[in-house]
Amino acid sequence: MPRITLIEHNGASHEVDAETGKSLMQNAVDNGVPGIDADCGGACACGTCHCFVESEWLEKSGTADAMEEAMLGMRPDRTDLSRLSCQIEVTEELDGMVVRLPEFQM
Ligand code: FES
Repeated sequence: MPRITLIEHNGASHEVDAETGKSLMQNAVDNGVPGIDADCGGACACGTCHCFVESEWLEKSGTADAMEEAMLGMRPDRTDLSRLSCQIEVTEELDGMVVRLPEFQM
């Protein structure tokens, strides 16, 4: 199981032994990590699963498609590290990945 670290805006860190084949969002929710609302349940339609992927993990986490780009475009706190965690599929390759969570989901 790849171990992924999610760090809340307040610095609280959560290590998750993630299940492959599921999204990062689903793994975070299943493990009770606060800071991801996931209002649409992973349909790439709400933007409330926003996260910032540490730069060294960006490439391995994949590339946002047009729909994810459109959703991210509505986030005023978007940065070059922004992804929607429901669109990141957990693979063994992501073992050790670190993502940070925004101050608010909106
Ligand atoms: S859970 Fe709604 S966009 Fe990711």
